[in-house]
Amino acid sequence: MKDTMQSISELIRERRSVKRGYIQKEVKQDLIVSLLNDAVWAPNHGLREPWRFIFISNDRKESFIEEAILSCFPKGQHEQMWNKFNDVPAFLIVVMKTDPRQKQWDENFAATSSMLQNLQLLAWEKDLGMCWKTPNFIYDPRFYEALEIEKDEKIISMLQIGYFDKETPIPNRTRTDVKEKLTYF
Ligand SMILES: Cc1cc2nc3c(=O)[nH]c(=O)nc-3n(C[C@H](O)[C@H](O)[C@H](O)COP(=O)(O)O)c2cc1C
Repeated sequence: MKDTMQSISELIRERRSVKRGYIQKEVKQDLIVSLLNDAVWAPNHGLREPWRFIFISNDRKESFIEEAILSCFPKGQHEQMWNKFNDVPAFLIVVMKTDPRQKQWDENFAATSSMLQNLQLLAWEKDLGMCWKTPNFIYDPRFYEALEIEKDEKIISMLQIGYFDKETPIPNRTRTDVKEKLTYF
């Protein structure tokens, strides 16, 4: 937990996606619920709140990898996938309600994305790392089936969540100055 108040701009600039270097400190379900209850104050058109979540704690991780992730891979890749994801302390599957109308679908996607960035910032404030992941298997019907995702739902992200070793360097991942992307009409 940061000991001094950060401005929003400092928090936005400081947050990084944490992809590795996780430490095996428990990610408590209560904390995730509390962060989500703040994150859902994101703008969402028509107050449709087009999201739901599936939290996978450390205790349930092995079953999740086995039943959901490995089901999308041939046997020969199971060990590699197991090793890749077993290091991650917890996961959050973020599910969006789809809509047959393009406008509403787009609005739902945008609202869910706004909520997700809120969540990542709120987690960072608590020294909890996250990475928004979109591996190919989050599009695989076998992954949907294992997680009982409904026909009118779409998985937006498999968030990786974990406390992390602050000594592990995170690439700076700088941004382009907006002057290069801004024109005036
Ligand atoms: C929609 C979306 C999908 C992403 N998918 C992945 C992914 O599959 N694997 C990954 O390592 N990072 C993924 N990321 C994280 C980005 O790589 C990361 O945000 C980017 O490198 C900028 O780094 P930063 O978040 O630390 O500023 C994704 C981010 C977004 C917004």
